[in-house]
Amino acid sequence: MSKDTIKTQVRKALDFRTAVRVYNEQTIPREDMDYILDTAWLSPSSVGLEGWRFLVLDRKAIQQVRDELKEVAWGAQNQLDTASHFVVLLAEKNARYDSDSMKNSLVRRGLGDEEALVSRLKLYKSFQESDMKLDSERALLDWTAKQTYIAMGNMMTAAAMIQIDSCPIEGFNYDAVNGIFAKHGLIDSDKEAVASMVSFGYRLRDPKHPRSRKPREQVITWID
Ligand SMILES: Cc1cc2nc3c(=O)[nH]c(=O)nc-3n(C[C@H](O)[C@H](O)[C@H](O)COP(=O)(O)O)c2cc1C
Repeated sequence: MSKDTIKTQVRKALDFRTAVRVYNEQTIPREDMDYILDTAWLSPSSVGLEGWRFLVLDRKAIQQVRDELKEVAWGAQNQLDTASHFVVLLAEKNARYDSDSMKNSLVRRGLGDEEALVSRLKLYKSFQESDMKLDSERALLDWTAKQTYIAMGNMMTAAAMIQIDSCPIEGFNYDAVNGIFAKHGLIDSDKEAVASMVSFGYRLRDPKHPRSRKPREQVITWID
């Protein structure tokens, strides 16, 4: 396949993708969800931490939490009623330079010998404390949470490439949603928290309004 063909396909997928909130009754095949989830799994993360987990809910699983979520998720009303699948993006808590998960990520990346470990962790300490000012639990959670949006973007584009619709969702009360997932035993609140959610399915109808974007030159600045 030529480069131009690939570019056209990607551009078509980006034109196809729009936030779809109401889906038809068709269910996304498991292999298509696995393809979408691969793009989350393989997404890049800062210092290779992979401080995330992706909870996948099919229709049956959505049904178990639907009523409770609808009470606290103003931005997910129609999606909860109609989506084929929901992916909940979870961000790791307290991913400090000296946490086990940071050490494990270094070992995973082949930097586990004592000398490499000590020098990397020293670098990450200064990165987190001085460069990024990750000086609270909230700041650390925001750091891992923002990285999950890379996975979110990859999943939505990958889905659009095969005509699967999606909607990113952060219109909900975070404390309440975390509480619901914890109550159902789906998340470990000591270790992780919800960053966002994405619904997937097939659009019931075409979007009512044309896509609106700021003029391209207003958001893209070339420095010659
Ligand atoms: C991070 C994020 C959170 C969003 N949260 C919601 C939401 O809770 N509910 C919803 O219906 N749409 C949500 N949206 C969809 C946006 O409203 C939509 O992407 C935006 O209006 C642009 O339209 P488009 O996606 O069709 O291009 C969210 C989008 C993003 C990127």
